[in-house]
Amino acid sequence: MPQQNKQAWPYPELVAHRGGGTLAPENTVAGFREGIRYGYRAAECDVKLSADKVCFLLHDDTVDRTSNGQGAAQGKTMAELSQLDAGGWKGGAFAGEALPTLANVAAYCLAQDMLLNIEIKPCPGRFEETGRLVAQEAARLWAGAAVPPLLSSFEIEALRAAQAAEPALPRAFLCEEIPADWRAILAELDCVALHCDHKTLTEPLARGIKAAGYQLLCYTVNDPADARRLLAWGVDSLCTDRLDLLPARG
Ligand code: G3P
Ligand code: CA
Repeated sequence: MPQQNKQAWPYPELVAHRGGGTLAPENTVAGFREGIRYGYRAAECDVKLSADKVCFLLHDDTVDRTSNGQGAAQGKTMAELSQLDAGGWKGGAFAGEALPTLANVAAYCLAQDMLLNIEIKPCPGRFEETGRLVAQEAARLWAGAAVPPLLSSFEIEALRAAQAAEPALPRAFLCEEIPADWRAILAELDCVALHCDHKTLTEPLARGIKAAGYQLLCYTVNDPADARRLLAWGVDSLCTDRLDLLPARG
């Protein structure tokens, strides 16, 4: 009988990757709108710090791919980042879409009852600071909310800083391939869950993680056959880019 993790986060079966997956510009409010349109109750996003320490949404270290700007994100202030068009690269319908702060997205998610998985995605050399400040900002923005955001990161140092700053916020260890010492990592960081690349997961590992009392999410699952197989292995939740192929249920 699997143990029950006392701090479980209410994972829906499906989570919209970067807001609205590939159907809208990633990590923008337009993306989150797409998630809501397809009936999603939860989304994932990537958060880092601007030069003036504002928490904002961006996946890459530079703004080049997903905006009309150029250069390293961490060299820019939030005032500079706010001037960028983060939607036009995805098509004219999204031109002028803002590059949002975490506060912008919190307001949208709270108004829509959408759960949020915040991936702490630090710029190089800013792991501790980003973990600490993102956790503090998340705790402030979601104060009094029925469900807190879930913090995840590939960077153990960032998760450790988040844990020290805001121990009550739920955490998930994010990894591509599950390391042999996953039990020690999850225990040290007092995580509720492990998030891994679905391509590296095996059924025995999935069953072992569940039996140890942890929740389990796989990314990025875009094929309905993969989704069915992973859910049959006991995976709790799937992060997807294809909201149109994997329509949310209920
Ligand atoms: O959080 C899961 C997934 O988003 C991690 O990969 O590169 O899309 O941030 P990436
Ligand atoms: Ca991510």
